[in-house]
Amino acid sequence: MADHVADHAGLGPLPPLFDTPQHWRPAALDTDTPHVARVYDYLLGGKDHFRTDRAAAELLLRANPYLRDACREQRDFLRRAVRHLAAEGVSQFVDIGTGLPAAPTAHQIARAVQPAARVAYVDNDPIVLSHARVLLTDGGPGTAFVEGDLREPEALLREPALRAVIDLGEPVAMVVTGLLHFLPDHEQPAKHVRTLMDACAPGSCLVLTHGASDLAVELARATSAAFRQAAIPCQARSRDEVLELVGELELAEPGLVPMAAWRPERNLTKTVRERQIAYGVVARKG
Ligand SMILES: C[S@@+](CC[C@H](N)C(=O)[O-])C[C@H]1O[C@@H](n2cnc3c(N)ncnc32)[C@H](O)[C@@H]1O
Repeated sequence: MADHVADHAGLGPLPPLFDTPQHWRPAALDTDTPHVARVYDYLLGGKDHFRTDRAAAELLLRANPYLRDACREQRDFLRRAVRHLAAEGVSQFVDIGTGLPAAPTAHQIARAVQPAARVAYVDNDPIVLSHARVLLTDGGPGTAFVEGDLREPEALLREPALRAVIDLGEPVAMVVTGLLHFLPDHEQPAKHVRTLMDACAPGSCLVLTHGASDLAVELARATSAAFRQAAIPCQARSRDEVLELVGELELAEPGLVPMAAWRPERNLTKTVRERQIAYGVVARKG
């Protein structure tokens, strides 16, 4: 492709639309394998998914008919936790493993309490980020969309786009919901979380949800097995194992509890309590 498109209608040389450097090209759309973000979008009732994602989601639903509720409860946990921290004075959030945009988003939640709150959205799936950039335009200059990987925390924290909205010298909430159970032990999730939190100022927080291996044991086992069958590696962890991910951070009330039971806004029915398959926790760096 020539450097410039021909001079049309006397407008002068047009910008080189088609010869952008390789790293600017949109990511190839892989529709043959299920992507976690698109499977999750389907489970939440969204519209950004393909046949393979729907097939994987249906497989998961056969293993755990409550999975849609669990996904909604995860979004609800994120909403309660971000709002709680914003009310406590935290005004910076890094939402790692953002997923396809699902309302209300972290900046909408935080800004309802702290109008100047700043949010960096991070995902390692370029498709997620291209959707987020298009759909979350209400965020304005206080939001950033960063292609990054939790398994490379130093590189993630060096990203200029993230640093443009997040000041690591001030308290920041690292929001990591629905992600760490996709990192098996050999990917060293505890080490990456520690690196992330070590880089943050005192008063910073970790917001975490994690698939549990010791709550509704049969449901949890069937769910993890179905994820693996759908070629999505998944490792649910016990309460003690999730506490290891939290490390030395101080647990905020009510501690590490089944996700829906973290500062709930209404009484939980027995059924809801008995089908919990994930923990939720907010923990603070002293
Ligand atoms: C189930 S979605 C969770 C979405 C959202 N955090 C929530 O709780 O509603 C998991 C997201 O994590 C992303 N993800 C998976 N592994 C990741 C990694 N190593 N680093 C960053 N993002 C990752 C996926 O692309 C997906 O968008």
